[in-house]
Amino acid sequence: MSSFVIHNPVRLMFGRGQVDALGPQVPDGARVLLVTGGGSVERNGTLARVLDQLEGRAAVIEHLRGVQPNPEYEQLMAGVALARQRDLDLVLAVGGGSVIDGAKFIAAAARFEGDDPWAILASRATVASALPLGVVLTLPATGSEMNHLSVVSRSELGLKLSFASEHVYPRFAIVDPDVTVSLPQWQVANGVVDAFVHVLEQYVTPPVEAPLQERFAESVLQTLVEYGPRTWTNPQDAPARDAVCHAATWALNGVVGAGVPQDWSTHMIGHELTALYGLDHARSLAAVLFQNFELRMESKVWRLAQLAERVWGVRSGTELERAQLGLERTRAFFRQLGVATSLAEYPDVRDDVADVVVARLAERGITRLGEGRSVDLELVRRIVQTSRHG
Ligand code: NZQ
Ligand code: ZN
Repeated sequence: MSSFVIHNPVRLMFGRGQVDALGPQVPDGARVLLVTGGGSVERNGTLARVLDQLEGRAAVIEHLRGVQPNPEYEQLMAGVALARQRDLDLVLAVGGGSVIDGAKFIAAAARFEGDDPWAILASRATVASALPLGVVLTLPATGSEMNHLSVVSRSELGLKLSFASEHVYPRFAIVDPDVTVSLPQWQVANGVVDAFVHVLEQYVTPPVEAPLQERFAESVLQTLVEYGPRTWTNPQDAPARDAVCHAATWALNGVVGAGVPQDWSTHMIGHELTALYGLDHARSLAAVLFQNFELRMESKVWRLAQLAERVWGVRSGTELERAQLGLERTRAFFRQLGVATSLAEYPDVRDDVADVVVARLAERGITRLGEGRSVDLELVRRIVQTSRHG
């Protein structure tokens, strides 16, 4: 295990009813930019509860509505303009990962001193500061509420790009499972799968002995396996919702991956598929994860066998047989939640998808992905092709 530093400054306010404890987190006289999505928080009453909490504290509330899934750069730039014109000093995101990521970009871009904030994404220009950010999460999935990452799309250029900055860690994150009751089953499945894959990206990696990290990872996976289907089947199952919300936050807040190798090639390929075909983020991952691991079985076998044993309870067979069974059980788990596990199941995905993905990565100068940069573009092509052909 390698040396690591963890400094996660997010005040995590977890539990049912925590939205109603938002008020004291907002400085008196704050000038707030509220950022929300396509209307779910209006419909399920979360926005009204947030506005209640702001009353008497915020001096100004501007509202950027309509941030869409896979947040769009142009739309976020309207938020940046608003923040600058109205001299706003707190960005408050109320929504899922897209709203939070969008708010992170706005917070960074509003303080960006270069000519064009697009550079934050396109050339990873340094983010030297950002407006303070607060979060009310409504969809357990991305972990964005407690990390320093953001993913933004610019569809006029066909791009979906990410940035990371210490300055966009939220000051506080409210994770109130009550507000997730209104999630459609489809989004619950997305959340469970995304969180599961986040852990796999930090766990199914080359051998290092990091026993505590491994057990952190396995406990998050076991929690998703046990409680994901329960909350998917019955949104009223409060303990199950609590468990999944908790697990999704911990899947990507820096703890599981501290001191161990990380992969992220499934995410890199998935982002290209979303940019090309609009696949939901989690579904883009599930469509290439299995092909990715199967084609790299040699370097993944030992950990997949451990996954099989510790998460799926597989006790017999050779290492390879256990690894294959672990993958099979994981695939069945995703499918049980209604999530497709190959591109062949998406009729809009064209035959040339593998070539297009490779060309897009090459165009941006990306020639290798994954841990130890072990996935070259030829392998990316094979992963996507295998998935396309089922
Ligand atoms: O837009 P509204 O009306 O709010 O509806 C949303 C949206 O349609 C709806 N929703 C959210 N909470 C709801 C609800 N509907 C009913 N009740 C609620 N309580 O769900 C839909 C999807 O929302 P979205 O925010 O797009 O989903 P998710 O949280 O999965 O976020 C996906 C985005 O996060 C990025 C992805 O790439 C994608 O752009 N990611 C961010 C990461 C990070 N910052 O660390 C890591 C991830 O790997 C991921 O890349
Ligand atoms: Zn993800």
